[in-house]
Amino acid sequence: MRNSVFAATSTLALLAAVSVSAGPQAEVLHWWTSGGEAKSVAVLQEEFAANGGTWTDMPVAGGGGDAAMTALRARVLSGNAPAAVQLKGPAIQEWYDEGVLADISAVAEAEGWDKVLPASIAAHMKCEGSWCAAPVNVHRVDWLWANAEILSANDIAMPTSWAEFNAAADKLQAAGVIPLAHGGQAWQDATVFEVVALGILGVEGFHKAFVELDPATLTSDKMHAVFDQMRKMRGYVDSNFPGRDWNLATSMVMNGEAAFQIMGDWAKGEFLAAGKVPGEDFLCASAPGNGFLYNVDSFAMFDVDGAEKQDGQALLAKLIVGQNFQKVFNLNKGSIPARVDVNMAEFDSCAHLSAAEMTSSSKEGSLLPSYAHGMALRGAQSGAITDVVTAHFNSDMTSDEAVTMLENAVRNSL
Ligand code: BGC
Repeated sequence: MRNSVFAATSTLALLAAVSVSAGPQAEVLHWWTSGGEAKSVAVLQEEFAANGGTWTDMPVAGGGGDAAMTALRARVLSGNAPAAVQLKGPAIQEWYDEGVLADISAVAEAEGWDKVLPASIAAHMKCEGSWCAAPVNVHRVDWLWANAEILSANDIAMPTSWAEFNAAADKLQAAGVIPLAHGGQAWQDATVFEVVALGILGVEGFHKAFVELDPATLTSDKMHAVFDQMRKMRGYVDSNFPGRDWNLATSMVMNGEAAFQIMGDWAKGEFLAAGKVPGEDFLCASAPGNGFLYNVDSFAMFDVDGAEKQDGQALLAKLIVGQNFQKVFNLNKGSIPARVDVNMAEFDSCAHLSAAEMTSSSKEGSLLPSYAHGMALRGAQSGAITDVVTAHFNSDMTSDEAVTMLENAVRNSL
């Protein structure tokens, strides 16, 4: 009896081992660890499993991905890269230049990605003409989120200029409400900074400053005005902000502890995961100013040995750009699909606003890559700018000093 149970068990174990080792496999490095993010990445895990894949999760906590990128470097340096990595913007090209990315053109061509992705998004996914990443979504960065009840109780409308924002924030502060929910991490400072900069520099000025790194724009009067506004923003933040994660700042708006947050629409993923309703519990509006700051999440596949891992990469790439995944994932994530042919009927009013303004910005030439989220510049340059932004925000540095420091930091990073 004992023997036959043992024999049955070992046969089962053997069968399990055979079926596991025969299927596609993928170790996936990502930084989606907040409530809304975890719910979103689970959609991909489930779809991968439903298609016979075995997913090994490698989440690296820390919004914005700085910690994830450090973990990635360590893995690649030790010759043990994960199969699939959340990677975006020029960082994709940087890794391609290192010669460590897998070519996923076969999947892209079989699935007709060129026909369903806007050319501007496809361009970020190609390395010297071949496909080297698969896009998941389009996040918009220049959003203002607000607690609906706080605004109505204080008779405040969603601000449409920075002067209106300041007036609203002063009024709220006088009433004992924290005007701006913010966390103390460099990338969060950079996020607020680029949104303020878009509003003050305008579309052309933003492009000159953060895409072209034009010295005249980096040292212009308007750039001084951007730092002046950042100083004001610092005054609207509560004293407990150092070290706070972005999603905890979102919770402050959700729970009525603070009125506004400036954050990409992954914040909406948090509101939705908590059962909050846009237009009722929370409000979304594009932040003051024209233009649309985009941030496209994507996955790149790293060179790995073994047919099962390579099958896993191909399956993952195919699912990521698949119509069903692009809908369900983005309903949870707060973003909109990267594909142009996804039915938007189930999406909320914030997503519809994002989609409409992305289309109009694309026509008007005001669709801009987010510098703070790694879409505009290579790491050395964006890092140099963020160092200045966060040094200014977390000290009593003047705007003059910050502008001088910005010019030097950018020059030295080139
Ligand atoms: C990513 C989002 C993520 C956010 C916070 C951004 O850079 O693009 O997908 O939700 O960081 O972690």
